[in-house]
Amino acid sequence: MKIAIVGAAGRMGRMLVKLGGAEVAYQVDVAEGYAHEWGANCEGVVDFSHHTAVPGLVEKAAQAGIPYVIGTTGLTAEEQARVNACAKRIPIVQSGNYSLGVNLLLGLVEQAAKVLGPEYDVEITEMHHRHKKDAPSGTALMLAKSVREGRGGGEFCFGRHGDTGERREGEIAIHALRGGSVVGDHTVMFAGEVERVEIAHKAQSREAFAAGALKAIRWAKGKAPKIYTMKDILFGENMI
Ligand SMILES: NC(=O)c1ccc[n+]([C@@H]2O[C@H](COP(=O)([O-])OP(=O)(O)OC[C@H]3O[C@@H](n4cnc5c(N)ncnc54)[C@H](O)[C@@H]3O)[C@@H](O)[C@H]2O)c1
Repeated sequence: MKIAIVGAAGRMGRMLVKLGGAEVAYQVDVAEGYAHEWGANCEGVVDFSHHTAVPGLVEKAAQAGIPYVIGTTGLTAEEQARVNACAKRIPIVQSGNYSLGVNLLLGLVEQAAKVLGPEYDVEITEMHHRHKKDAPSGTALMLAKSVREGRGGGEFCFGRHGDTGERREGEIAIHALRGGSVVGDHTVMFAGEVERVEIAHKAQSREAFAAGALKAIRWAKGKAPKIYTMKDILFGENMI
C-alpha cells in the first residue's frame, strides 16, 4: 500500500516514516525539503500534524476516495464537523491515542467507573513533553469520556484555581502537566473515603502510537465510509 505521512518532519512523523519503510510514498509537511501534497497514486493518508491542517486535507482525500487516519488532536468543533462530513465518502480512523495499552485502559477505566460509582471521586492527570501544543491531551479526554460512559454521567472540570469551593458531586477532573521529554503518561484516580484506585499508562516510545496508526491505515483500505476508532480495529465487535 502506498501511503502519505502528513506532518512527516515532526516527532510522530519521523517515527512513522521510519516504521512505515517502503510503504511511505509521500512525506508531506510545510517544513522545507518536504512534499507539499501527495500524488495521484496515493492509497491512504496518516496525519500527525496540526489541527488547522486536518479538515482541508481530509476533504482532499475524500475527493480522491482514499482512506484517512487522523492522529492529530485538538480539533475545534468546526474542524471536526468538516471531518464528519467527509466520513460519508471515505473511511476515516480517528483516535486521540493509537497505542494498544491505552485502548485497553479505556475499557478498564469504563469498567472501574461502573463498579465504583460516583462515590469515588475521579481525578485524571496527564503529563507530556514541553513542546506539546494542546491541553488536555486527546487521550485524557477519551479517558474522561470512558468514566462518564461507565457511570452514566458527570461534568468535566479542567484544572482548579482560586476560590473553587468544595468538590462538586460527580465531577470528573482533568489536569495537564508539561515538562521535559515525557512521551505520554496518564493516570485515572478513583478516590473513595477509605481507599484509592489508580489505573495508569506510560508510553515509553512514540513507536507505540506509530505502529497503531500504520495498522489503522492498512485496516481502513476498502472499508465502508464512516468514522472508525482504534477500538474497532483492535477489538472489533468483542469490545472488552
Ligand atoms: N493520536 C495519537 O496517538 C497521538 C500520539 C502523539 C501525538 N499526537 C498528536 O499528533 C500531532 C503531532 O504531534 P507531534 O508531537 O509529532 O508534533 P510536531 O510539532 O513535532 O510535528 C507536527 C508536524 O506537522 C507539520 N505541520 C504543521 N502544519 C502543517 C500543514 N498545514 N501541513 C503539513 N504539515 C504541517 C509541522 O511542520 C511539524 O513537522 C499533535 O496534534 C499531537 O497531539 C497524537
